[in-house]
Amino acid sequence: MRESTDARVATAQRYRAFAEVEARGMSACYERWAAGVAADPALVSLIDQLPAVKRQPNLVFSAARFHGAKVGEYGEFAAWLREHWSEVAATCLSHATQTNESGRCAVLLPALAALAGPLALIEVGASAGLCLHPDRYSYRYHRGGGGDVSGGDSGGGERMLHPADGPSPVVLDCMLSGPVPVPEQMPEIVWRAGIDLHPLDVHNDADVAWLDALIWPEHDDRRLRLRAAVAVARQQPVEIVRGDLNDEIEALVARAPAGATVVVFHTAVLAYLNEQGRNRFAAQMTRLPVRWLSNEGQSVAPGVLERLLETPAEASAFVLALDGQPIALTQPHGRSLHWLG
Ligand SMILES: C[S@@+](CC[C@H](N)C(=O)[O-])C[C@H]1O[C@@H](n2cnc3c(N)ncnc32)[C@H](O)[C@@H]1O
Repeated sequence: MRESTDARVATAQRYRAFAEVEARGMSACYERWAAGVAADPALVSLIDQLPAVKRQPNLVFSAARFHGAKVGEYGEFAAWLREHWSEVAATCLSHATQTNESGRCAVLLPALAALAGPLALIEVGASAGLCLHPDRYSYRYHRGGGGDVSGGDSGGGERMLHPADGPSPVVLDCMLSGPVPVPEQMPEIVWRAGIDLHPLDVHNDADVAWLDALIWPEHDDRRLRLRAAVAVARQQPVEIVRGDLNDEIEALVARAPAGATVVVFHTAVLAYLNEQGRNRFAAQMTRLPVRWLSNEGQSVAPGVLERLLETPAEASAFVLALDGQPIALTQPHGRSLHWLG
């Protein structure tokens, strides 16, 4: 577990770790805010009024931005937070960090397209379900160094792939390396459903505003993508069952249509479970008649790290694994995909 999300770690230390490890290079604003909080005992005392699991920087900063905190210097933010603390604290108590990143579909798609279809998709930890529409987005796969992307139609080391009914308003860019089986066409998805402890509803403006606030300040490309993906998802609603993934998965698998390959997938989810929960889920994936596609931090999905033959250069890289076997390394928001040989 990261120091910033570990409820046992003191608040100042959590914010310092968040500034130095997670925000540095990713968000100059959050780096300033987190470093500022870490050195500000008055603000730390305020945040310490929350239960320990709710003191995480990502949650507090997202809640502040949800209520209108402006991107800027720490002094201005600290003054704003003191003034609006009761609203921010209430949102921290009622909400959770559940970023939904449709960009992750770009790293899932080659693995999905390589499976025998038609497919029935089940996403556990689906949030608002934006990753349940991989066949409704357009993809622009790039090859580092301008190399060939097999089957390409636009040349120049780039390959576009569109939904069957034409280009999507959501275009996902992904840089490829290694022998990636770039799909020639979209997988046929005949059924889809999700599970989440707290499903967010793409039709609910407050839920969409929360998803927006969870995106870090400088990541405007992701914010635009969120709006476009929500518009796509609003056209074709998908059921997301409320509940714990371990408790709900078997019944949902049983509802999938006969004749389809059932794929249970998850991205950035198992880190929320304790070791016992992760092992229970892995055992269910082995027992149930499904293909299991996981995209998680390196030591998160049980058994995957042990089977990894290459040590990832980036400690933050996720591992994409099919039925527990690593097949690729991925950038956590889906910006790049390195297929393993
Ligand atoms: C970081 S979000 C990732 C959402 C989505 N998979 C994506 O990649 O965009 C993690 C999601 O997992 C859900 N979650 C965490 N623990 C869960 C559990 N035990 N059962 C079901 N959902 C869970 C959270 O509510 C949250 O929506």
